[in-house]
Formats: sequence, C-alpha cells, structure tokens
Amino acid sequence: MAKNEAMEALQRENLLLKSEVERLSSPPFRAGTVLDTGKKTVRVFVDGSGTYEIGHNESLNGKVKRGCRVTLNKDLAIVDSSEFSDLGSQVATVDEVEPNRIRVELKGEHKYVLSISPDVRAGDEVVLDSSGLLAIEKLSRKKTKYNLERVPQIPWDRIGGLEETIKSIRSEIEHPFVHREVYARYGSSPIKGALLFGPPGCGKTLVAKAIAYNLAKTTGHEDGHFISIKGPEILNMWLGNSEANVRRIYQSAREVANGALVVIFIDEAESIFRVRGSSVSTDAYDSIVPQLLTEMDGLEENHNIITLLATNREDSIDPAVLRPGRIDRKIKIPRPSREGAYEIFGIYLKDKPVQGLFKGSKRESLTHEAVERIYSPEPVCTVVNPHGEALGSFTYRNMISGAMIKGIVDRACRYAIERETVGGTIGIGKEDISRALDTELRENLELDQFFVESDWNDVFGDKGKQMYEAHKRGYLQFRKGPGQIQTAERGQQ
Ligand SMILES: Nc1ncnc2c1ncn2[C@@H]1O[C@H](COP(=O)(O)OP(=O)(O)OP(=O)(O)O)[C@@H](O)[C@H]1O
Ligand SMILES: [Mg+2]
Repeated sequence: MAKNEAMEALQRENLLLKSEVERLSSPPFRAGTVLDTGKKTVRVFVDGSGTYEIGHNESLNGKVKRGCRVTLNKDLAIVDSSEFSDLGSQVATVDEVEPNRIRVELKGEHKYVLSISPDVRAGDEVVLDSSGLLAIEKLSRKKTKYNLERVPQIPWDRIGGLEETIKSIRSEIEHPFVHREVYARYGSSPIKGALLFGPPGCGKTLVAKAIAYNLAKTTGHEDGHFISIKGPEILNMWLGNSEANVRRIYQSAREVANGALVVIFIDEAESIFRVRGSSVSTDAYDSIVPQLLTEMDGLEENHNIITLLATNREDSIDPAVLRPGRIDRKIKIPRPSREGAYEIFGIYLKDKPVQGLFKGSKRESLTHEAVERIYSPEPVCTVVNPHGEALGSFTYRNMISGAMIKGIVDRACRYAIERETVGGTIGIGKEDISRALDTELRENLELDQFFVESDWNDVFGDKGKQMYEAHKRGYLQFRKGPGQIQTAERGQQ
C-alpha cells in the first residue's frame, strides 16, 4: 500500500515536471490587438508582424472583442484575452468620421484608424492603442472642451474713458446683431469678428467681456457663452496639433451656439496669427491661419458666433485674417486721455471712503493733483542714439493705463486702511493717491520694455515704427529722466 502511494506521488511529481519542462521549452507567446471580429475568424494585429485572420477560440467566447489585447501561441491560436491596454498609446484628434473608419491627426500627420467607440465626432480626442490602428478610448469632452465660461457681467459703465470707442462698437457690432432682420433686408449681416488692439492694461480684455455681456443682454441670449483662450495656449497644448485646436474651439462654439450667443476671445493673437512666411513663422503657425479662415468662412450668415482677437502688436497680424467677412473691424483701445483718467479713477473710487469731501466739491478734486501730474509734459524717459543725442522723450501719459489707475487706487486703499487701523484719519486722502502714484510709476518705469509700438507712434509720429525697431535692435537706448530734446515732440498735448 505504502509502495503504491509512493509510486503515485512520484508519478504526480513527474507530470508536474513534464509540464514545467514543456512550458519552459515552448516558444514565447505573442501578443496582438483585435481589430475586428467576424463570424468564423478574428482579425488580429500581431505586434511586430502584421495583421492575421485567426480562428475563434470557443472557450473564450464573448471575451474577444474589438480593441482587446490577445495572447497567441506559436501557432497563432488565441489562448487568452485581456482588456484594452493603453500602455504606449498616443492621443490623436479626430478629423472626420466615416461609416467604418475615422480619420485622425497625430503630430501633424493624418491616418485612418478603426474606432471602438461608436459616438466619436470630429474634434474629439481619442487614445490610439499601441498598434496605432485602433482608437480604443474617447477622452471625456471635459478634457477637450475649451473653457466655456458664462458671459462675465461687465456693463459698459464699468469701463472708463472709452466713450467714442464704445459708441462705435455699439453701432458696428451690437446694432447689426439686434436688428438682424432689418440689416438682412438691405443685404447686410452682423460682423463675424473684430480685432482689439492697443497697449497693455488699457482694457482690451475688459472691452471683449463687455461686448459679450451687452450683446447677450440686448439680443436676449442671457445664457450666452464666452470662450477665452490665449494664442500661445493654442500653440502649446499638443505640439503640431494647433490647427486641430482651432477647429475644436469652433466645434465647441457651434455646439452651444444653437440658440445661445458665443463670443470667442483669442488673446495675444499675434502669437498665432502672425504674418505667414515671416522669419518667425513656422509650419505650425502656417497651418493655423488657414484653419481660422476656414472656420470663419464656414460660419453661416445666421450664426451666433463672434470672434474677438486682442493684441498689442497689430502690425504682426496676418492681413488675410483681417479681410472683409472675417475679422474685419479694427478697434483701437488707446491709453486713457486726461478726461478718461478722471473717469477711471472715479469708477474705482466710487463707494470707497474718502477724505475731505465738502459740500459741492467733487470726488475729482481728490485725484486732480495726480491726474495733472500724469499729463504734465515732464519727460520721464529719453531716447538717445549711439552718440548720446536725445531724440525725444516719453512722459507719464505714455505709460498710464486703466490697470495702473486701478493699481493706484488699490494701493491708496491699503495706505488708508493701515492708517485707520492704528487710529488715524479715516478715508482715502490726496496724499494717499499721490504716494500710490509715485510708487506705481516708479515700479513701472523699471520695466524697460514698457513702451509698445503705438506709444512710439504717439511720441515720434511717422518715424515711430522705425525707431521702435531700432530700439529693439539695441541701436537706440533709453536714458531715464529728462534729456535735451532735439526733435519736436508729438502727441504730447
Ligand atoms: N478703461 C478702463 N476702465 C476701467 N478699468 C480698466 C480700464 N482699462 C483697464 N482697466 C482695469 O485694468 C484691468 C486690466 O485691463 P485689461 O485686462 O482689460 O487690459 P488689456 O488691454 O487686456 O491688457 P493686456 O494687453 O495686458 O492683456 C482691468 O481688469 C480693469 O480692472
Ligand atoms: Mg488682456
């Protein structure tokens, strides 16, 4: 009996060893991706060797589906199947959906692949499996959608000193939208877009938001949308996929534009719509402009989508973008005038505790000194040539912006708060404003690249552009403070 048991144990051990030897000596298994399943066969892309039609494995019935990873033995029979694998997978953008295949773009190249998810649409992002032949997953729209914000609440009276500009925006943009039918009878349709240009901090973004808000309000599209994106973001998101990004922005807009108004705001537009073929332009740039044109030209007459671009280098925008029927309005948002500065101060000082408001005196008296100082002809920065000769000067009015005025009021508020909390005088006083102005101007003057091209035009007239370029190349330098001015100053009144 004991002998029999020992024999059985030996036999069992023998069997185990045999199967282990078999396992160790068998050729390695291969792996592949299931491209399609038919009645009798399964089409498999075997990694590294191509596509095969392989008989079904009944024992795995139902487990082998399109997109699955399968294990194959040396005879290329399926021995196991697992879920999709996204190791080594790449993200591509869907160009076009056809009945049995989809066209995707990956790193600037187009190819046809199969998709396992039935509801992909152009503009979606999909994950390609390691074979690169199958789209195995659609990324959630959340990841691919552009920031669809609700329209921000900026009524026109939150913007100071741009009365004329706002008037022309209302008549050229708002009016045709509100009275669409009347305009249509005269063969005219609302504009598709506008370019807002001007120095930094003077209200381009603010105006774009106000346009969106007031359009939504006056056209009864209270649930309007605002898509805000910076040029460099379009460029950087997936290198080489920039034109797909442009397409996706408009795709997102079209999805919601049915019934709602959508304002697409592209800030720092010069970074992507720059003149084609210029030294800085590359293939990536070159493909964005045509894509934008396709999108804009494709918008129907009755669309509810309006594109606003903003830049402080209006000269670098590709003129093709600015042709009629596209972004065909150019709106300058300049530095505030003296009256504008009073107005902007007024907006930010409104509702703030202030000192010394006697009967009949206006809030303006508080800012009088500061505003007059900003608009005095005192030169603060002089342009000199390599011989040290002064060619002209910038004054504070060439630096001032709405953003700076807001900064001055914020700073003055802090001074007043500090004082009040230690038992001092309550409210903002003239001294607070002056002190804040000093600090703000000093800090801004330290930034050498402060003046943009339009400021050079304001100071030097027709020669502005040329001198600005010469300064950028290092030929003309700045000397802080006053200098001997040799050429007549312009635009300083
Ligand atoms: N005309 C103005 N009236 C009231 N506030 C202003 C005005 N201009 C600028 N501001 C204030 O400055 C902030 C910055 O302005 P905004 O972002 O609109 O400038 P921008 O022209 O878009 O500048 P950038 O070129 O730097 O983008 C605004 O949020 C607002 O608080
Ligand atoms: Mg801005």
